[in-house]
Amino acid sequence: MASYIREFIARNVRNPQGYFGSWFAKNAFIKSNTPLIENTIPLVGIQPDHVVLEVGFGPGVGLEIALKHVQQGLGKLYGIDISEPMIQAATSRLGSNITNQKVELIQGDVVNLPFEDNMFDRVYHTNCFYFWSDHEKAAKELYRVMKKDSMMVTTMEKERVEDAQRRGFMKYGNPDVDNYVSCVEKAGFSNVKVENKCMEKSDAPFIVIYATAKKE
Ligand SMILES: C[S@@+](CC[C@H](N)C(=O)[O-])C[C@H]1O[C@@H](n2cnc3c(N)ncnc32)[C@H](O)[C@@H]1O
Repeated sequence: MASYIREFIARNVRNPQGYFGSWFAKNAFIKSNTPLIENTIPLVGIQPDHVVLEVGFGPGVGLEIALKHVQQGLGKLYGIDISEPMIQAATSRLGSNITNQKVELIQGDVVNLPFEDNMFDRVYHTNCFYFWSDHEKAAKELYRVMKKDSMMVTTMEKERVEDAQRRGFMKYGNPDVDNYVSCVEKAGFSNVKVENKCMEKSDAPFIVIYATAKKE
């Protein structure tokens, strides 16, 4: 593969930009990430009255699935993503749920969250943390905005990501799970637990990292 194509992919999986970047990223994310998202949401334990944050929602498939869990209650979903084209893609997917205030999408960076302290019952992100510029700062911010005894769920297809790394598509990412876990613990999270799982339909492997914001 030509090096400029590899560079194009590496840049756009981290922060999709421009017409071609966003077209490529949107379609690639929907095609390849939906099974992980479908396997992640049940692990998050979202209740109808929960206030929930998804970081790096991409085209919005995760928010669309999570929505079913808060639809009948007072709960609300927030999403933050660094990429303007991903905001547009998720906005068209989630449509009326945005106008009726059930979902709010914000363009921003996880290292500087535009939310008050102690706001969320659940935080989740799928195939995402390795693109953050500063894991320590991000973990501190996530801890700050989470309520006492709330939970964060991180999932990742480690083998797929490592394969992408070997092929040069992770030039702008750091998929070091141990480093991520140590930043999460340093930020104050407790009961940080890494589990290996397999997806329901395909049996494909993924890892899940649970972390509790006890805030005692
Ligand atoms: C590989 S995609 C995964 C998208 C979605 N979670 C999925 O599984 O389809 C990573 C997403 O994280 C977003 N992202 C990357 N760095 C970010 C950051 N620092 N803060 C917020 N979002 C970020 C990207 O724009 C992109 O939408």
